[in-house]
Amino acid sequence: MEVKRAASAGFCFGVKRAIELALQARAENTGRIFTLGPLIHNPQVVRLLAEKGIEVIQDLAAAAEGTLVIRSHGVEPEVLAAAQELGLKVVDATCPFVKRAQELARDLTEQGYTVVVVGDREHPEVRGIVGWTGGRAQVVEGPEEAARLPLLPRVGVIAQTTQPLDNFEAVVAVLRRRLVKEGEAPSELRVFSTICHATAERQQAARELAAQVDVMVVVGGYDSANTRKLAAICRESGTPTYHIETADQLKSEWFAGARVAGLTAGASTPDWIIEEVERRMKELAENAQEEMQMADFRTLRGGEIVKGVVVAIDQ
Ligand code: F3S
Repeated sequence: MEVKRAASAGFCFGVKRAIELALQARAENTGRIFTLGPLIHNPQVVRLLAEKGIEVIQDLAAAAEGTLVIRSHGVEPEVLAAAQELGLKVVDATCPFVKRAQELARDLTEQGYTVVVVGDREHPEVRGIVGWTGGRAQVVEGPEEAARLPLLPRVGVIAQTTQPLDNFEAVVAVLRRRLVKEGEAPSELRVFSTICHATAERQQAARELAAQVDVMVVVGGYDSANTRKLAAICRESGTPTYHIETADQLKSEWFAGARVAGLTAGASTPDWIIEEVERRMKELAENAQEEMQMADFRTLRGGEIVKGVVVAIDQ
């Protein structure tokens, strides 16, 4: 069985940068280093960071001193203010693409626009962006919600960085239609696609690969929204798809009869996990092949069970 990797998979620029900044902070500081929630949605990486002394806390109140590393998802300005008040050192690892969305949201609000954020309202990145509008932004998850949104004359639309482009465009299309049809003058719609290319590229590569292979494996944290999205995209293609976190979750029966298997990974999955999964997939495929040969052999020998690798069948 051949294993093909998606053209674009694994760690994105922002996640790599956040890990490097956290490790640098560890190397340069002797006190406590912590993140508010896991640095990335990958439990294996978070465990490794913990071994190096980078802790996860859930509440700033648990931190009387030390260095707070802000995650790539970013935070509300209130969190930065609270850290300052507590006298904590702050290392801001907010991804620059998320930072741009935060700044746009803040600037549009200051200019009198109602900011509409297209995204998952429970996601920390979206909560952070809304925070930069003083809580005034409206969050919509898709076109159905956009159709019900109470509209103000001036609207500025931005996206959670990991949004699928088609969902963002569908929301913008609904808002444009509503402003033209229902809009009170002056109606104005400003649209900023803050979608990150890393996400779009990984999704497109997963879609293309899933259409060419017999089975897909998607590697990444179960809590990682972008990994779950990759798995959903692969399933949409009709190809059997398995979402795993580590190589030991792979099962040989998934590859029985498969000629080509596809492999992709979320933006928070490190290369070493992807490589381990690829190696294990190849081993399991070989085992599955041997088991099939054994089954043929047993049939030929009238049900007699012979253990060992079949080299030649002597009838
Ligand atoms: Fe940044 Fe894009 Fe990654 S927004 S954190 S580079 S998915």
